[in-house]
Amino acid sequence: MGIKKTVSVLGLGRMGSALAKALVGQGYEVTVWNRTPKELPNTRSAATPEEAFKSDVVVTCLSTYDVQQPLLTNDIKTLVNLTSGTPDQARATARWAKDNGIEYVDGVIMAVPQQIGTPQAKIFFSGGENHHVLHAFGEPVYVGEDAGLAALYDLALLGIMWATFGGYLQAVALMGTEGIEPARFTPMVADWLNELGHMLPEMGEQTQTRQYETDVSALDINVSGLRLLTEANREQGLDTTIPQALHGLFERAQRNGHGAHSIASVIEEIRK
Ligand SMILES: NC(=O)c1ccc[n+]([C@@H]2O[C@H](COP(=O)([O-])OP(=O)(O)OC[C@H]3O[C@@H](n4cnc5c(N)ncnc54)[C@H](OP(=O)(O)O)[C@@H]3O)[C@@H](O)[C@H]2O)c1
Repeated sequence: MGIKKTVSVLGLGRMGSALAKALVGQGYEVTVWNRTPKELPNTRSAATPEEAFKSDVVVTCLSTYDVQQPLLTNDIKTLVNLTSGTPDQARATARWAKDNGIEYVDGVIMAVPQQIGTPQAKIFFSGGENHHVLHAFGEPVYVGEDAGLAALYDLALLGIMWATFGGYLQAVALMGTEGIEPARFTPMVADWLNELGHMLPEMGEQTQTRQYETDVSALDINVSGLRLLTEANREQGLDTTIPQALHGLFERAQRNGHGAHSIASVIEEIRK
């Protein structure tokens, strides 16, 4: 077995600490740096980022690119960037790395810190293929040569998560206005989400063919439904930001001639 590379982790927040612990668990020699000095068992603390850049691989996990960018220098040999950002931010960092002779991998973590080091933690990565340290964190999933792709997958999937959580919280609040507790309601939500999941492949196909014929439910009916949902939330004394936003978007698609089409036709408005 070859000698394991030395790895530094920049950022010891919730996620960075979990990453550093996983590397230690896999037998790596780990150096850590954090703005607010922090000790982590079986790691060496670097006083400055530059000191941490002496390792073979530098893993960054800071809150944002704005925070990260000023810390990076061309002393880094291989950069595994796990800080969340936009595709353009990732591409700009990849260009900077290339111009400075730094090997670069852009990754996103589709997991919570508690899952790091288990196969449940999917690490999407793009750009470079030097992903050996990613195996310590979970299951690496290569999504392409363009360094911006991992961020694109990340934000697309998180968008579904935030929309779902927003919808769930609105529903819990609505049920709560009549004293129905989440413990009673949530099992129904899980079944419902499972059912909805089965509808996505056909919806996805329609967005590609742009053929929106439906014998299931027309957009007209869904626009009426969203109006009812908005009114019901208002009647029950709740905020209506989420249902109103959806109603506005769906109604625009209806006005533009998609009333008899399926919900998939709303993508025509989104793509504008
Ligand atoms: N937590 C999750 O479930 C999760 C899941 C997937 C991806 N991520 C991504 O992982 C990254 C880190 O998230 P996290 O949950 O670990 O966040 P966090 O717990 O808030 O930690 C943020 C880290 O950024 C550092 N930082 C913030 N401002 C800084 C500055 N001005 N200069 C230097 N360092 C600074 C913090 O240092 P201090 O300790 O000094 O404040 C800390 O190390 C984010 O990009 C996040 O999107 C997180």
